[in-house]
Amino acid sequence: MTANSMAIELEGLSKVFGRRKRRVQAVNNISLKVERGQVFGFLGPNGAGKTTTIRMLLTLIFPTQGQVRVLGQSPYVARDVLKRVGAVVETPVFYNYLTGRQNLEVLARTSGTNQPARIEALLKQVNLGERAGQRVATYSLGMRQRLALAAALIEDPDLVIFDEPTNGMDPAGIQEMRGFIRELVDVQGKTVFLSSHLLSEVEQVCDRVAIIHRGELKREGSVAELLDGSSRVRIEAAPLDRAQVILGEGWKLTPYEDHLLLEAKRADVPAIVRRLNETGIDVFHVAAERSSLEDYFLSVTQGETV
Ligand SMILES: Nc1ncnc2c1ncn2[C@@H]1O[C@H](COP(=O)(O)OP(=O)(O)OP(=O)(O)O)[C@@H](O)[C@H]1O
Ligand SMILES: [Mg+2]
Repeated sequence: MTANSMAIELEGLSKVFGRRKRRVQAVNNISLKVERGQVFGFLGPNGAGKTTTIRMLLTLIFPTQGQVRVLGQSPYVARDVLKRVGAVVETPVFYNYLTGRQNLEVLARTSGTNQPARIEALLKQVNLGERAGQRVATYSLGMRQRLALAAALIEDPDLVIFDEPTNGMDPAGIQEMRGFIRELVDVQGKTVFLSSHLLSEVEQVCDRVAIIHRGELKREGSVAELLDGSSRVRIEAAPLDRAQVILGEGWKLTPYEDHLLLEAKRADVPAIVRRLNETGIDVFHVAAERSSLEDYFLSVTQGETV
């Protein structure tokens, strides 16, 4: 892969806020490559460093250390590259006394690309059509979020960066947003980089995922890859206490009243059954379960939130 096929490259990226007692290492030595033409999820609990990383990508704050490349170029050197990037970072700010449509018109004019038909299409795409003529002051958080999306897309960017895109949206809105994000990638050929602390959501829309925790990159891979190697095997056997002792020699397990849950893969099942048979334990049920990415995420981050 050449550097140009990458939408985003982070190399040893770090950000430290404050000094001495106030020192916070928000991002710690993150290296990451995001190829073009996919939806990439940047996952982590509150305070993990997602927004800080995104702000560095957009040159809104300066890295303490490390390199950022966007669409093959450093946005700090080649500022023009950011014209090909659309972004929604945290709660977007609009002119409250203007309508949604007028806000987009103002943005389009400042960027020199005022095309009324495009604005109407965008308003429709994000499902704001009906309310576009009302003042933003009357909008709900979810509606502001939709308007922000339309705003991010005004210059038809190659790369779209969303910080918590479904923040404030209702379930129907979240569902719509998923379809919308997939369309940007699958139909329009863009790259989407989005952050979220909601795993279930990311699992459904992303091709690849990076998990960050306390500023550090914990894992990176396709959703399927991350699910692999984190499976569990449920076992019902008698006597269960003896099965627990025997299997405990070879596997990490959690005992429950009527079954054991082993940290093992499907491929381990024959060995597990053999071990139980050898020792005269009766096996009633063995089932390999795939733990959801959510469980996986919790195990990586130990379920912590800040
Ligand atoms: N301007 C700042 N000054 C000092 N500390 C900051 C600043 N911005 C962020 N931090 C700290 O950096 C850490 C990472 O914050 P960041 O906003 O990047 O997290 P996040 O992953 O986006 O979390 P959330 O899911 O809550 O949005 C936090 O501990 C936060 O308190
Ligand atoms: Mg954030």
